[in-house]
Amino acid sequence: MVSTSTPSGLPRSPVPTPRSSFVFALGQSGAEPALRAELLSHGLSPAFGRDGFVSAKSTQPIGVDELPAMVLGRRVCLSLGKRADVDVAALVNDTDAVVHHEHGDGDGAGGRGPFLKAGDEGRLVITLVDRAGGSFVGLHRHRAGLSPDPGGDARLVVPSTSPSRAWLKVEEAARLVELPIVPGDAVIEVGSSPGGQTRALLDRGCVVVGIDPNAMDDGILREPRFRHVQESARHVDTTQLRAMVAGPARLLVVDVNQRPMAALSSVASIIAANRGDLRGGLFTLKLGDWALLSELPAWRSRIEGLFGPGTTTVAFQLPANRVEVTVFARRPG
Ligand SMILES: C[S@@+](CC[C@H](N)C(=O)[O-])C[C@H]1O[C@@H](n2cnc3c(N)ncnc32)[C@H](O)[C@@H]1O
Repeated sequence: MVSTSTPSGLPRSPVPTPRSSFVFALGQSGAEPALRAELLSHGLSPAFGRDGFVSAKSTQPIGVDELPAMVLGRRVCLSLGKRADVDVAALVNDTDAVVHHEHGDGDGAGGRGPFLKAGDEGRLVITLVDRAGGSFVGLHRHRAGLSPDPGGDARLVVPSTSPSRAWLKVEEAARLVELPIVPGDAVIEVGSSPGGQTRALLDRGCVVVGIDPNAMDDGILREPRFRHVQESARHVDTTQLRAMVAGPARLLVVDVNQRPMAALSSVASIIAANRGDLRGGLFTLKLGDWALLSELPAWRSRIEGLFGPGTTTVAFQLPANRVEVTVFARRPG
């Protein structure tokens, strides 16, 4: 921790947190134009972008608590400049910041840096980024809802028991938001084939009803806590579904290859029939084209309307997402 007194015992004057006119965001490689457009929507002038790194300039210096909240930026930092020009050791000494290396090897000390934990909210984080254009030093303040992981990516590895990489969508989302499930809870999963997300939910102890006209992986079908409804969500008999779900369904997971508004229409009656029980929803929305991101506010309000009064949503892009965004809805209660 930073000492609050000088060697003479006199109180140390508080160290001002640096301010900067530059910001950088880390996101998906290939999504730089969309990242740029999002930074522009926050009144910043994007400077350059490459390999999932986009820098931007604000009209006046800002502090870490004025950084924009982004959907596509999985790490958004005040840019303190090139690494050669910043005394990182002094900054750590002055501010007790944690150091994350976006591209380090391994985890923990000497590698990518520590994964942040509960209780680390408010802590300053220095992010070191290496690109062909140079190495940069970023600074942000950790808070609930931001990734605790270096560079915003835990680099989770899909277990061999998972039939698809969609396992990551549950596990990466769980690092950003608190999924409203405990072992024994029932989950309705729409677009469950072949079963990557199902595997994650089963391993979290849930009882899962998967709805998908496509076949499920054999290993998932053998699980006693899994039931498959092999049809489109549009045609599901919601009374029969409620009878199949063991106990109140607490979470709805949606990952269908339909346009977002069509996907939300497909699950509308399922949400309506289970609204009183559901505590949340985890939606993978497939854009296909980044230009569609401008419709995200409409998708979020549709989800909030379906889940009912008091529902809040957050949107983010997970490392596992392709041209997709994830929306998490939380229902009060
Ligand atoms: C990306 S895959 C889902 C991957 C899956 N979540 C996993 O974890 O392995 C999309 C799935 O959505 C299903 N799907 C598309 N429209 C659907 C609908 N209206 N109801 C149910 N499933 C649907 C498709 O059959 C397909 O299997």
